[in-house]
Amino acid sequence: MGRKESWGSGLGFVLASAGSAVGLGNLWGFAYRASQGGGGAFVLLYIFIVLLVCLPLLIAEMVIGRTTGSSPLTAPLKAGGKSWAPLGWLFLIVSVGILSYYVVLMGYAGTTLLHAFLGDLPLDKAAAGDYFPSISSGGVSLRGQLLSIVLTGVVVGAGIRRGIERLTKWGMPLLFIMLIGLAIWASSQPNAQEGYAFLFGWDWSKLTDPQTISNAFKQAFFSVGTGIGAILAYSIYLNSKSPIPGEAAAVVSLDTAVGLLAGCVTFPLVAILGLGDLVGEGSVGTLFSTLPHGLAITSLGLTGWVVSVCFFGLVFIAAITSAISLLEVPVSSLIDQIGWSRQKSVWVSIILIACIGLPSALDVEFLVKIDSIMNALLITSGLILALLVGWSKPKLLIEDLTNGGTPRERTNTFLWTLRWITTPAIALGLVIVLEETLRGWSG
Ligand code: PHE
Repeated sequence: MGRKESWGSGLGFVLASAGSAVGLGNLWGFAYRASQGGGGAFVLLYIFIVLLVCLPLLIAEMVIGRTTGSSPLTAPLKAGGKSWAPLGWLFLIVSVGILSYYVVLMGYAGTTLLHAFLGDLPLDKAAAGDYFPSISSGGVSLRGQLLSIVLTGVVVGAGIRRGIERLTKWGMPLLFIMLIGLAIWASSQPNAQEGYAFLFGWDWSKLTDPQTISNAFKQAFFSVGTGIGAILAYSIYLNSKSPIPGEAAAVVSLDTAVGLLAGCVTFPLVAILGLGDLVGEGSVGTLFSTLPHGLAITSLGLTGWVVSVCFFGLVFIAAITSAISLLEVPVSSLIDQIGWSRQKSVWVSIILIACIGLPSALDVEFLVKIDSIMNALLITSGLILALLVGWSKPKLLIEDLTNGGTPRERTNTFLWTLRWITTPAIALGLVIVLEETLRGWSG
């Protein structure tokens, strides 16, 4: 296969994988789904799903990448034989599908960053109402989409160590520092308590509410980003002694911490505008319409400028470090399958993805539909991956982890969890998500 690349260090891999996980899902997705209600029950369910479902699955995904050394397209075939080959295609379809609208959202973030930089975020209510439609349609949206995909392509084209690792090594620490600073700033805002109360407010009935459960599942899967081959593509370059379980736990913890911290920034801000409106809206625009307005009115002057540039700068960094992992899936598959160079694979992929993303760039409704389809497919491929590693080829997991230095009993515990908790939980979650998605479409 002639792979000459590798991670510069274990930390490089963890930061790149955390970069993949931490993204618009933590900022846009969290604000959007949490704003549909559910409060503390949503947050608790999300944390449970991350720990019991996504973490074991992430370990399984890393193992498949490292043991097969193959791109996401062919890794399932190599691991499990011919009957598992469709899973490779599913990885490819879902990552291309998600990236096609992800770069559109990243474009909204870039445009808003520019407005923050120029100091013209919407100040009055009428301007705030027009803001999101103005950035999410026509030429503005297309320009954002194109720039975002090209930037993503440039990083991936530069390679694992010189592109992906280099960007995530400075981008992720910067993101954490800005986020902590913003969370402290937000806590001093007058409506902070109200925002926290909305985000963490407890209502027992929400624990069994199908919409809350479905949202928590979608949020956990999208945010950790497992089950789609992105982290698999990164794990190909892992050395055989890297402690996969510890690395997976670090990725998941960082991702969850960022999700919660981001909620502690966004909800105090939106509380200023009245949570009633937000709950009524509960839409994709939450991050890009309510927040720019909230930022504009809470913080004028230099502080306001710094806070809003930091906030949308952070959103943009989070987005690009995830987009590169999604692009790595088709790129490494083309390198592996057809033998193209990295550069050629990148350019062919981004042209294709830009075309597929055109309807999302021009129509937000379409973007929302594709998002819900891709979320359901993401959970489906996660289920198939759990079946492959947990049930069909458990030996792969045991051998790989034991070789890597994980004690045998701990490996057995992972396997047991993957089989008896993760697999049935994903199956149940998938049924609820499908039911809710269809209900949403018909209602
Ligand atoms: N986890 C990323 C986010 O939260 C999105 C993503 C999904 C990345 C799937 C890779 C794979 O925005």
